Amino acid sequence: MRDTLKLAKQLAGLGYGSRKQVAIAIRDGRVTGDGEDLRFEGEPVDPPHGIVLMLNKPAGFTCSHADQGRLVYELLPPRLRKRDPKMSSAGRLDADTTGLLLFTDDGALLHRLISPKSSIPKTYEARLARPLEGHEAALFASGALVLRGEEKPCLPAALEVTGAQVASLTLTEGRYHQVRRMFAAAGNHVDALHRSRFGPLRLEGLPEGAWRILTGGEVAALKA
Ligand code: URA
Repeated sequence: MRDTLKLAKQLAGLGYGSRKQVAIAIRDGRVTGDGEDLRFEGEPVDPPHGIVLMLNKPAGFTCSHADQGRLVYELLPPRLRKRDPKMSSAGRLDADTTGLLLFTDDGALLHRLISPKSSIPKTYEARLARPLEGHEAALFASGALVLRGEEKPCLPAALEVTGAQVASLTLTEGRYHQVRRMFAAAGNHVDALHRSRFGPLRLEGLPEGAWRILTGGEVAALKA
């Protein structure tokens, strides 16, 4: 009995239902296996506290818990949204920006990932409204570019030009609308923005709108 209560508490905390609902699932034999191979209705149970997942965010979804418009959380299955402690996105992407977005229920890790001191490199692919002029890489790398309305210059950022109007930009900080504002400061305009890399992680074939749980090795690399 005590084991059933413990299991019900564990599964409820992972978002599989209320304690009563999961107790019924256990009674009905819908929870099988144990330890490393615990299954709910045949599917492996999500990892306990400390889970990290990546989403390939489509355009049109907002990174917010507030109930306005379409939220990135809607792209996760209900059980992941019901976890306690809850899953939060590690920083934000603009509604129009696509690509790699991380979520975790680990508050300490979340803090580290979004701290201005973390200096985790993040790479963005930008499609521009006008052809690049050739001065942008030096400007972004200079450490002297001051964005409109700010005083502190941006940290040096690496620009790789991959086409007449396409470039990838790697930042080690994350200011509000930073990529769009950097290109605006260079006299251009970002038409489309996609994040392809967050520290050691890349999307690597994850389809738009899809998510996956990071492996233990990936989480360790992220924490390193
Ligand atoms: N820079 C931006 O301008 N927008 C984002 O979503 C991320 C970085």
